[in-house]
Amino acid sequence: MTRYSFRKYQPLSLRLWHWLNALAILGLLATVLLRKTFLSWRSNAALIEAKLQAAGTAITSEVAKDIAVSIRNPMWDWHVYLGFTLGALLVIRVLVGLLVIKKCPATHAAQSAWHLKNVPQEKRGQALHYTFVKTGYALFYLATLFMVISGLLMQFKTELGLSKEAIGPIKEIHELMMWFFVVFVVGHLLGVVVAENRGDRGLVSDMIHGGENEKGS
Ligand code: HEM
Ligand code: HEM
Repeated sequence: MTRYSFRKYQPLSLRLWHWLNALAILGLLATVLLRKTFLSWRSNAALIEAKLQAAGTAITSEVAKDIAVSIRNPMWDWHVYLGFTLGALLVIRVLVGLLVIKKCPATHAAQSAWHLKNVPQEKRGQALHYTFVKTGYALFYLATLFMVISGLLMQFKTELGLSKEAIGPIKEIHELMMWFFVVFVVGHLLGVVVAENRGDRGLVSDMIHGGENEKGS
């Protein structure tokens, strides 16, 4: 009978991809956190204006905003650098899929969903959970593709001649989609910890050293 384990041999290319991808995603989320908190132009412009006023120097709100935005920008450049990195990693993941793993994450998720009806009752829960996890990965790749395309469209809006009206909704959805990644990262981290404790012991170290080789196991 099928054992619904998440453990399998992880090729070196996927392991390297996985950790670089994790760094890129966490880095992107960190730049957003900084933009919305410590480096928010709204609160920093108000602070600059208030401090200068207290020191006896008059400053317009526009200049205060300009200073706050100029302080934020070098940090935000990292959003775009990491964004390009994420785009490159997505291309690499497609190549790893085509050349090494030879399995498409979406097909894999669809196949486990399709086989659900043949799964005996006592295994149904496990099979559903397996399908849920694999669907999560397929959605992760789809969402990443959207972030990369929308990010590039925003970055090159002038070169592409995109109007403000066209960019507005793209930016809104890009911003909203951030929540998918927040939920994915939290769910994924909790998920691997639970799996390690439930019968998939060694899952995380497999993602580091590869685990039992398919041929050797
Ligand atoms: C925080 C950012 C992270 C992201 C975006 C991420 C993303 C992913 C993705 C997309 C996969 C599926 C790979 C595939 O088969 O196509 C995966 C698998 C995996 N990840 Fe992560 N990961 C992150 C962090 C971590 C961390 C910190 C750990 C360990 C503590 C971890 C452990 C694993 C393991 C063990 C698997 C294989 C499990 C399985 O096939 O279900 N990940 N990760
Ligand atoms: C998981 C990946 C990503 C997340 C979570 C994310 C998140 C965000 C968020 C929340 C914003 C709105 C910031 C604000 O206006 O307050 C934003 C804007 C932006 N992002 Fe991303 N992003 C990601 C990937 C990318 C990629 C791949 C690129 C491509 C280069 C990119 C380029 C941009 C650009 C150009 C902006 C507009 C900034 C502006 O209006 O000044 N992002 N991103």
